[in-house]
Amino acid sequence: DRSLKIAPSILSADFANFGAEIQAIEAQGCDWVHVDVMDGHFVPNLTFGPPLCAAIRPHIKTVMDVHLMISPVDQYIDAFAQAGADVITAHVEATPHIHRTMQAIRGAGAKAGLALNPGTPAEACDYLLDMVDLICVMTVNPGFGGQKFIHSQVEKVGKLRAMIGDRPIHIEIDGGVTPETAPLVAAAGADVLVAGSAVFKGGSVSNPAPYGENMRAI
Ligand code: DX5
Ligand code: ZN
Repeated sequence: DRSLKIAPSILSADFANFGAEIQAIEAQGCDWVHVDVMDGHFVPNLTFGPPLCAAIRPHIKTVMDVHLMISPVDQYIDAFAQAGADVITAHVEATPHIHRTMQAIRGAGAKAGLALNPGTPAEACDYLLDMVDLICVMTVNPGFGGQKFIHSQVEKVGKLRAMIGDRPIHIEIDGGVTPETAPLVAAAGADVLVAGSAVFKGGSVSNPAPYGENMRAI
């Protein structure tokens, strides 16, 4: 399914109210729910792990899209799959054995996602295209929400869409997605747009109406 999908990142939600926040974004029409896992080592920030994923899983009716910004990664894959992740994305920069990592994700029963940092070329995916279900193009340096979109990445999205050809692979964009930048990456071939600050801004658990307006604006 190549239609445009919005995946709000709960990194920008109210951490004390994940259940209600997830219900709100789903009620307002989000397509996937994006969960940013950070380890304070691969990226300079800490977030959450498999127990949090397991706790929010019953609240997610759509797709639990887990973005692992952790190194090492292989030893945690089964735990995130057990916690109910539908998609598990790992970074090509996070391991010398990314091929093995993609095999392990599919082996654990999840869809395999491959993430590329802004400095990593599209060609890093060359020998992995038959073992991935999603390629995540980072349009910020990972670690924090609310950063500025890196425009050079739009060309990378176009290159990847051409490399992918007929394969059923999603291209996901993560970082700095706004009503201004979303059309650029959608035109270049992206179909899943992660958005944290742009979705949650102006709303709250008690007044989630802006979440829907924000998603429609993207
Ligand atoms: C960045 C995370 C993103 C982030 C996006 O490391 O992977 O998912 O939450 O946030 P915004 O949309 O605010 O750039
Ligand atoms: Zn992310």
